[in-house]
Amino acid sequence: MSELAPSLPPESIDAGTNSSDAPVRIVGLVKSFGRQKVLKGVTLSFPRGKTSVVLGPSGCGKSVMLKHLVGLLRPDKGQVIYEGERIDTLSERRLGPIRRQFGFLFQQGALFDSFDVYGNIAFPLRELEGDRPYDEEARVRRVLRLVGLESAIHKLPSELSGGQQKRIALARAVVLEPKVLLYDEPTTGLDPIRSDVINELIIKLKQELRVTSIVVTHDLVSAFKVADYMVMFHEGNVVLKGEPELFRRSTDPIVSRFLRGEASEEELRAIREVTSSNRDAARVPGVLP
Ligand SMILES: Nc1ncnc2c1ncn2[C@@H]1O[C@H](COP(=O)(O)OP(=O)(O)OP(=O)(O)O)[C@@H](O)[C@H]1O
Ligand SMILES: [Mg+2]
Repeated sequence: MSELAPSLPPESIDAGTNSSDAPVRIVGLVKSFGRQKVLKGVTLSFPRGKTSVVLGPSGCGKSVMLKHLVGLLRPDKGQVIYEGERIDTLSERRLGPIRRQFGFLFQQGALFDSFDVYGNIAFPLRELEGDRPYDEEARVRRVLRLVGLESAIHKLPSELSGGQQKRIALARAVVLEPKVLLYDEPTTGLDPIRSDVINELIIKLKQELRVTSIVVTHDLVSAFKVADYMVMFHEGNVVLKGEPELFRRSTDPIVSRFLRGEASEEELRAIREVTSSNRDAARVPGVLP
């Protein structure tokens, strides 16, 4: 932790001590893949009914962290706690009912191409309740209205734009009325207007469904629009957490460079080395086409 504003109320600085204010917590999370250490002991609390945004450069472990929250990955060390209960050690069977309290908007939209919008959204209901879920159509229509796409109910995913597909995936993520909503890069690949529709939806769903939201993104416009709290990851550690204002004021070079979108000297040097080695290769006849 590089800095914390002493004036912030305790819940905003994520002390990780008051589980009743934070339905989701991770404590000392460590995760490696082979020799690559991705998370190096991350401790975080996600406050109830608020939107926490997780920022950080590509490959720093944001999606890996998110997958731990729903047991898609298991930690090497550390704990995942949901409503005061440790869940990272639960069997798949016992994890099932807890997983249903989470809605997950995956980084890759992941709609079923062969199902229409109705079939995609009804899918989690049918998985849970068998062939004839209670009031299926009304529930599908309700979430479609929430994302403003009721008119697309009989379309196939291929007939929708990227932004519309994200909204359908979001409708599907909320159809089981989750308590926690996880968004992995919800605006990536969308133009600024479609991104803003998603931002507005994140805010609306927080208000209407009273969910605790965790949004992983490197879209800074989106981050500052939706965030009540922010966390920044860098190389598997948390470098800063707190209210958005703390980030705006931060003088930490890692944070301020990320917010300005500037590469570090080290990164620039690596690129210069690659560029000059390409130039050398170009001088050798036959190396480049
Ligand atoms: N299942 C896996 N097996 C092996 N390595 C993995 C696996 N999942 C993630 N990694 C590695 O862990 C690192 C962090 O991945 P992660 O997907 O969390 O990055 P990220 O911060 O979400 O990046 P981005 O912003 O590009 O989505 C990457 O180097 C990735 O290659
Ligand atoms: Mg990711």
